[in-house]
Amino acid sequence: MFALTGIGHLVTNDETVGSGKLGILNNAALVADDAGSIAWVGKQSELASHFDGKPNDVGGRAVIPGFVDSHTHLVFAGDRASEFESRMQGKPYAAGGIKTTMAATRAASDAELTANVARLASEALASGTTTLEVKSGYGLSVRDEERSLVAAKTATNETTFLGAHVVPPDANADDYVALVQGEMLNACKGHAKWIDVFCDRGAFDVDQARAILQSGAAVGLGTRIHANQLQQGGGVQLGVDLGVASCDHCTHLSQSDIEALAGASKTTVATLLPTAELCTRSPFPDARKLIDAGVTVALASDCNPGSSYTSSMPLVIALAVINMKMTCDEALWSATAGGAQALRRTDIGNLRAGSRADLVVLDAASHIHLAYRPGVQQVQAVIRGGKAIIGSL
Ligand code: NIG
Ligand code: FE
Repeated sequence: MFALTGIGHLVTNDETVGSGKLGILNNAALVADDAGSIAWVGKQSELASHFDGKPNDVGGRAVIPGFVDSHTHLVFAGDRASEFESRMQGKPYAAGGIKTTMAATRAASDAELTANVARLASEALASGTTTLEVKSGYGLSVRDEERSLVAAKTATNETTFLGAHVVPPDANADDYVALVQGEMLNACKGHAKWIDVFCDRGAFDVDQARAILQSGAAVGLGTRIHANQLQQGGGVQLGVDLGVASCDHCTHLSQSDIEALAGASKTTVATLLPTAELCTRSPFPDARKLIDAGVTVALASDCNPGSSYTSSMPLVIALAVINMKMTCDEALWSATAGGAQALRRTDIGNLRAGSRADLVVLDAASHIHLAYRPGVQQVQAVIRGGKAIIGSL
């Protein structure tokens, strides 16, 4: 059991505890139990009736829920620095780059894949990410997708089978779709909680995506979709029709896509990935328009070696505020509670009694500083499951 006190600004994401949607409390304290859950949050002046040990005083700093990064591709080998360099000289981003990483991933050992996942998961943790979703998708063969998911499982139980990332160069599209729905799904389903499809130009069309997602759902996997990243198309509408947990990217949306997402706001989250737009020099989606229409928005990093090689949720928040017109409150909510909703979880992304004690102490007076000071390391400590694992208290 431990307690934090001297919290100048506590974001709980619990409207019943504090003010606004973020449930903010000032001069607050928090108690975690030995099982790693939040036991109590409230006014610092009331701590004594909930905790009789010596609390850790955070000196007026801000405390926020740990970030829930609900979209990453951490299982891969090699990098694509030269592709990035030529993109910065004007070459457009295309789905085909995935094949470069596929070759490196197939050539890597299990130990190398696991080490890469561990390296990036610990990088993410250092910037405040306490829950990660991790996808396969660079193996693109039965064996390589399966071992990619085994590597992903070493870092998280939020694992996603993305055999339908692109058609590998040696395969026929129809045969590959059948393989993904059959033998590959069979080998992977025991290692994955979710199934995802990249439904876009150069990847899979709407009919292929529908068939693959329905096969995954039939064996008990939750569904999510990469939709409307490269162009407008039917991916978002398909996701809404199938009731997926999350339509991700949403870079190019029509008015009817926005209306569909708004109508499905309790079921389907729009997960925006602004570092992908940043690193591919693409237009940022208009988050303001989505939120004003009633869409539930999550923010995630899309960490991968091609379109977004960063695990930094503070950077994602800064871009969401500065380039996508989200308020500081909305961006923080979307990077925590919104990510949790995209994973259909209520035990993370908030600091209410009973939830996991996953939290970040910021060396700042409030969460506003995450966007206000882009690129500056402001994480003082990270606590996950009630244990301080980065920094000290
Ligand atoms: O989410 N869009 C598809 N997949 C990744 C990029 C993969 C890559 O370029 O390696 C994404 O951006
Ligand atoms: Fe992605």
